[in-house]
Amino acid sequence: MRAPRGTRLSGNRMPAESRSFQLTSLIAVLPGDGIGPEVTRAGLAVLRAAAARHSLDLRIEEAPFGGAALEALGAPLPPSTRDLCMDADAVLLGAAGLPGPPPANPALRPEQGLLDLRALLGVYANLRPIRPLPGAGEASPLREENLASVDLIVVRELTGGIYFGDKQEGEDAAADLCAYNREEIERVVRFAAKLARQRRSRLCSVDKANVLATSRLWRTATSRLVADEFPDLELQHLLVDAAAMRLLTHAADFDVLVTENMFGDILTDEASVLAGSLGMAPSASIGDGGRGLYEPIHGTAPDIAGQGVANPCGMILSVAMMLDLSLKAPQAAREVEAAVAAAVADGARTADIAGQGPAASTGQFTEAVLERLEKSKDGSA
Ligand code: IPM
Ligand code: MG
Repeated sequence: MRAPRGTRLSGNRMPAESRSFQLTSLIAVLPGDGIGPEVTRAGLAVLRAAAARHSLDLRIEEAPFGGAALEALGAPLPPSTRDLCMDADAVLLGAAGLPGPPPANPALRPEQGLLDLRALLGVYANLRPIRPLPGAGEASPLREENLASVDLIVVRELTGGIYFGDKQEGEDAAADLCAYNREEIERVVRFAAKLARQRRSRLCSVDKANVLATSRLWRTATSRLVADEFPDLELQHLLVDAAAMRLLTHAADFDVLVTENMFGDILTDEASVLAGSLGMAPSASIGDGGRGLYEPIHGTAPDIAGQGVANPCGMILSVAMMLDLSLKAPQAAREVEAAVAAAVADGARTADIAGQGPAASTGQFTEAVLERLEKSKDGSA
């Protein structure tokens, strides 16, 4: 008989005194393209170390995805990869994309595999926290003293909007439909509002209601939902252009931002500059079950792929989010976060955040994190 989806039972690895059975979690690992495999290796090393420290029983299975799968199996999200992900408790993903101009046929675009996977898993809430680590901002074009109190999280709607609307594509004309319904808006805003309640109770909804019909629905649905279900929250609406500016001028004022798919994509690349580099930013994508998709927000970075110099922080911090949200091991998550922060503070920095200092390779940085993880006690490195 097939085991039920989710954590499953397995035999004999736990000492008898601690539990009569052991929960095994299945982790699907999709390294993908470009720097994806390098940062995924780093993330897995940290995941394995954290799991060992906390006696988490993981079954880790790798599968082809993105351009790599397209070349090997003819599809960016082959059926075998799809099945593995549907069975998994969590999916860890590197990056998807091939160099060169993207073909019009979606079946030939690695990125389409990513969109299909997000839709398949139903992970409509994409959490992208930005919390600058001391030292990482030295290389930022922004003044480091303005970054110290930044602690924000963008909740990006991930399975609707213009990414998924009907498309028409011709030689001389093209169209992308942006569509949302109230339910799609409400579920992601509810997710963000719950999160805000656990934080500083400030929710900022970002739209373009002065121009877009979908944004006007977004704004009225959000206002009504928050008034009905979260009257304790402070709700602000911002137009996306103003939000883009205020993320640089007043970043510390933000707590939780919630926005539609494409605005969230753009604003989070921008917000990653607050953390020092695009390579620093992790993400978790969650739906209604416990299953999650975990991926750094950066892309394939073909210019540095294969050189072992990519920043694995975004990936390692995505592993921390997985430990927290899917594997229900918050203590392990805090240890990983603390180990990353300590490594960066001690000067272990990849080229993108090294500034004038010496640059660590992906492997050296990962080693620095693992060393600190090993020494960590009671959740602090
Ligand atoms: C991201 C990426 C993807 C997106 C691309 C690769 C399709 O930019 O995760 O932010 O636009 O969602
Ligand atoms: Mg993006």
